[in-house]
Amino acid sequence: MYNIHVSGARRCPAAFCCNLSFPGSFAMRQGFFTITENRKIADATFLMRMEGDTEAITAPGQFVNFKLDGFYLRRPISVFDCEGETLSIIYKVVGRGTDALSKTAPGKELDLLTGLGNGYDVGAAGKRPLLIGGGVGVPPLYWLCKKLAAQGAMPQVVLGFNSAKDVFAADEFRAIAGTDVKVVTVDGSYRDGDGCNKGFVTDFLPSEYTYFYTCGPEPMLRAVYKATSTEGEFSFEERMGCGFGACMGCSCKTVTGYKRICKDGPVLKKEEILWKN
Ligand SMILES: Cc1cc2nc3c(=O)[nH]c(=O)nc-3n(C[C@H](O)[C@H](O)[C@H](O)COP(=O)(O)OP(=O)(O)OC[C@H]3O[C@@H](n4cnc5c(N)ncnc54)[C@H](O)[C@@H]3O)c2cc1C
Ligand code: FES
Repeated sequence: MYNIHVSGARRCPAAFCCNLSFPGSFAMRQGFFTITENRKIADATFLMRMEGDTEAITAPGQFVNFKLDGFYLRRPISVFDCEGETLSIIYKVVGRGTDALSKTAPGKELDLLTGLGNGYDVGAAGKRPLLIGGGVGVPPLYWLCKKLAAQGAMPQVVLGFNSAKDVFAADEFRAIAGTDVKVVTVDGSYRDGDGCNKGFVTDFLPSEYTYFYTCGPEPMLRAVYKATSTEGEFSFEERMGCGFGACMGCSCKTVTGYKRICKDGPVLKKEEILWKN
């Protein structure tokens, strides 16, 4: 286990097989986490809880990077919740890595890099922040929602999914934000006390909010960019190589120059974003 806190050249911890050095100053930590729970909560979607050293995880919107047996590249997954030494994530099985993760039993130890990414700025929220999540972009908003409520804000939440079978974490958000949580499905198959909200998240945004935070697939983020009227923050789930700033594989052009989504992001402010085409 080690910390990387200082500027200068260090050995690459991504895969323990190269001597790549990288610049920069950040608080990343490598550690072993023991799985305590790994269960299906929606279609192809799993909640995993782990116990370990969470000290490097400091802001909602940060992510962790999993080393999986037999895989060269680590897999990045957002922090869903972090309380004491318990770290929770929610992930969708989309390929071989996440499939292997879903078959990993409680009791097994996993090698994680923690403290990755900048995270959301909770100080910008104001009294009535709006949280907009789509699909696997929903998880990083949960710990954010908890933090905002704890600092006295009253978050409004709009969660979008394709279908009722994909919906997860709605009750957890309701436990914090009550009736200010709206669950929307593209096919209108999800029903709750609020009725059936058929459409896209952008069809159900409240008219008043002080700031917004969002994460989801790129078409949703583009629509949110156009539909929102205040300043806000976007989290991008870009494909990654190293995940901590060394390879430039996630570099994106922004208004203020090129940024590495893994290290300078994954959260960017609305005014920084330059969409490709
Ligand atoms: C900062 C960050 C946070 C993330 N948080 C979450 C999360 O909380 N929950 C979650 O379910 N997923 C999250 N992801 C996406 C997750 O990392 C990928 O789904 C995962 O790495 C896929 O690994 P795999 O081996 O199963 O799939 P692969 O075999 O590598 O790929 C299978 C399919 O998934 C697509 N894919 C792979 N990686 C990504 C990616 N980063 N973005 C979009 N599509 C991808 C591939 O194009 C391919 O079609 C996050 C990604 C990033 C960069
Ligand atoms: S993934 Fe390597 S710099 Fe971002």
